[in-house]
Amino acid sequence: MPAIEEQARSEPDLYRPVPARVIEAADLTALERRFRVRFPDDHPLGHVPGQFVQVSMLGIGECPISICSSPTRSDGFELTVRRVGAVTNAMHQVEAGDVIGIRGPLGRGFDVTKLEGCDIVIVSGGCALAPARSLIQYILDERSRFGEFHLFHGARSPDELLFRVELDEWAEQSDVDCHVTVDFADAHWTGDVGVVTTLFDRMPRLDRSDVRAVVIGPPAMFKFVVMELLSRGISLKNVFCSLERRMKCGIGKCGHCQMNERYVCMDGPVFNLSELSSIREAIE
Ligand SMILES: Cc1cc2nc3c(=O)[nH]c(=O)nc-3n(C[C@H](O)[C@H](O)[C@H](O)COP(=O)(O)OP(=O)(O)OC[C@H]3O[C@@H](n4cnc5c(N)ncnc54)[C@H](O)[C@@H]3O)c2cc1C
Ligand code: FES
Repeated sequence: MPAIEEQARSEPDLYRPVPARVIEAADLTALERRFRVRFPDDHPLGHVPGQFVQVSMLGIGECPISICSSPTRSDGFELTVRRVGAVTNAMHQVEAGDVIGIRGPLGRGFDVTKLEGCDIVIVSGGCALAPARSLIQYILDERSRFGEFHLFHGARSPDELLFRVELDEWAEQSDVDCHVTVDFADAHWTGDVGVVTTLFDRMPRLDRSDVRAVVIGPPAMFKFVVMELLSRGISLKNVFCSLERRMKCGIGKCGHCQMNERYVCMDGPVFNLSELSSIREAIE
C-alpha cells in the first residue's frame, strides 16, 4: 500500500477518500467528540464555512460531517462527531495518531461576501453549534469586515452544551453579543432557561437591509426560529440556513438527499431562504 503521504493530494478527489491523520481527539460531552485532522503533506482542506466532508472508517462506512473550524485557522481542520450509529461510534474509538479517510470539502457553504459589511445574527441549536462555529470563527478572525455580531444559542441542558469554554470567551468579548440558553437547567446553571426564541427580545432590529440572519439547528427549532425572524421584518433573501438530510454519496449521484429539484449535498447544505420558499418539506 502506498504511503499516506503519496496518496494525499493538493486537489480533492470527490470519489476517493484521502487518508488524513487525526492529531487531536477529545470528548466534548458524553455524546460528542472533537477531532483535529491534518493531511500528511499539510495541504489545507480548502473549505469555506458551512461545507462538510465525508468521513470514512475503513471496513465500516462513511458519513457526512460538517467542518467545525474556520479556513482562517491553520494546523488542519476540526470535526465534531455525535455518536448515533455504526460509523460515528467507530469514530469515537479514534485517537490521536490514527488515520481516517476524508472526501471533500463538499457542498455549498456560506458565501461570506454576501454577509460582509452587514450586521450578522446567528441562531444555532444543539450540536449545530459545530457547523456554526466554522462561520463564527471566520467572522471573529475577519472582524473588521462585518458589522455588529449577535449570537443566540440554545441547548437542551448544560451538559449537552458544546464548546463551553469558547462560548464563555465569546460572551466576554466586547465585539460579540452572545446569548446562551438551555431548555432544562441543572443545579449549577445560572444562565437563561427556555428555548432559544425566548431570547429574541434581545434581538436587534431586523427590518433593515444591512442585517443578515443565519439559522443552523435541528428541524424542530428551525421552523419556529424562521417564523420569529420573519415576523420581525427580515426579508427571506437576508436569511441563510444550513439543512441536514440523509446522504450517501455527497456529490449529487445517489438522490438520497433530494428535495424536489434540489440536492442538499450539492445545492446546499447552505441555502438562502428565498430559494426554499417553494419547498415546503425544507422548513417543516
Ligand atoms: C451535511 C451534513 C452535515 C452533518 N454534520 C454532522 C456533524 O458535524 N457532526 C455529527 O455528529 N453529525 C453530522 N451529521 C449527521 C451524521 O452524518 C449522521 O449522524 C451519520 O451519518 C450517522 O451515521 P452512522 O453510521 O453513525 O449512523 P447510522 O447507523 O447510519 O444511523 C444512526 C441513526 O441516525 C439516523 N441518521 C443517520 N443520518 C442522519 C441524518 N443525516 N439526519 C438525521 N438522522 C440521521 C439514522 O436514521 C439512525 O436512526 C451531518 C449530516 C449531514 C447531512
Ligand atoms: S447524497 Fe447522494 S445525491 Fe446527495
